[in-house]
Amino acid sequence: MSLIEQAAKRLEQLRKAGVPVRGSESDAGLAPTDAGVETRVQSDTTTSQVAAPAPATPVAAANLGASTDPVRVAPPAPVVSRRVDIDLQALAARGLMSPDAPRSQLADQFRVIKRPLIANAMGRGVAPVKRGNLIMVTSALAGEGKSFTAINLAISIAMELDNTVMLVDADVPKPSVLKMLGVPPARGLLDALTDESVEFSQVLLRTNVEKLSILPSGTQHARATELLASAAMVQMLDEMASRYPDRIIIFDSPPLLMTTESRVLAGHMGQVVLVVRAESTARSDVKHALMTIESCPVKLMLLNQARTVSQDGYGYGYGYGYGYGYGSESA
Ligand SMILES: Nc1ncnc2c1ncn2[C@@H]1O[C@H](COP(=O)(O)OP(=O)(O)OP(=O)(O)O)[C@@H](O)[C@H]1O
Ligand SMILES: [Mg+2]
Repeated sequence: MSLIEQAAKRLEQLRKAGVPVRGSESDAGLAPTDAGVETRVQSDTTTSQVAAPAPATPVAAANLGASTDPVRVAPPAPVVSRRVDIDLQALAARGLMSPDAPRSQLADQFRVIKRPLIANAMGRGVAPVKRGNLIMVTSALAGEGKSFTAINLAISIAMELDNTVMLVDADVPKPSVLKMLGVPPARGLLDALTDESVEFSQVLLRTNVEKLSILPSGTQHARATELLASAAMVQMLDEMASRYPDRIIIFDSPPLLMTTESRVLAGHMGQVVLVVRAESTARSDVKHALMTIESCPVKLMLLNQARTVSQDGYGYGYGYGYGYGYGSESA
């Protein structure tokens, strides 16, 4: 039954119950006959009459999902995020990419790495990727280079003219983004997940890299890892995806084989980058990790710290660098 038919039925019930319904007696168009309703559906003006009944029929109004309250509520004041300074020299000292050195070898490598991710995020791929702007950086095991990759990727994308980036430290059991960027501890994701009065946009940090904002992992919590798979987290991801559809959101995350929550998180992402530390992680671990994210629409494997990127290593190495290369999951 359509909304209009439901409305007409409800009005008829009210009339039968003796509730005065404005215009119902005189306005033949509101008569709850099928013909009357059909006529109404064809007219926008009439439809809006049905959807905005008189104040005398609050029940009908509630059923129609329309408000009878003429008072206009002012939109909430925009949240102004706090600004922090990333220590650009410390970035370089840690071997991370710095916006000051856009032509370094690392910058060149990340220029290649980010292309397919941006294309998928912005719908420039062959097939559109649902939630393509949510990109999770993960690995099978600890210490494979997730944070290093997530930060470099975020800085590299933020240096593009057209893209804004949010870097989320979702590796809540082992956060490191702020420290690696030389930014003091701050509230963040866990605060927004555990305190209903805190919106994630309130704890988002703007930075001196103009198009880069950071959502820190926040105040430590005993159930931090569990929270990653909570309904509150899913709701936040929905909000992020719909509120910032033009922003690329990169999640540094816990390793897939060490926490099941990380796999749940991956299930909500449009793209997953699996960082594999070359000559270190066992092939069986990589395969197992890939199996846990089977349902993700886009999975890219990134070979980190490889001395050479070979054709027979992890699949089709592009052969463009000495640190990174994408691989296929078939190898
Ligand atoms: N391609 C690289 N070149 C140089 N150093 C790297 C590279 N990848 C990672 N590292 C260094 O290796 C160390 C581990 O990397 P990182 O912290 O990014 O790993 P992780 O997967 O995030 O670890 P964890 O699971 O502990 O969070 C860091 O000191 C990082 O700077
Ligand atoms: Mg890390």
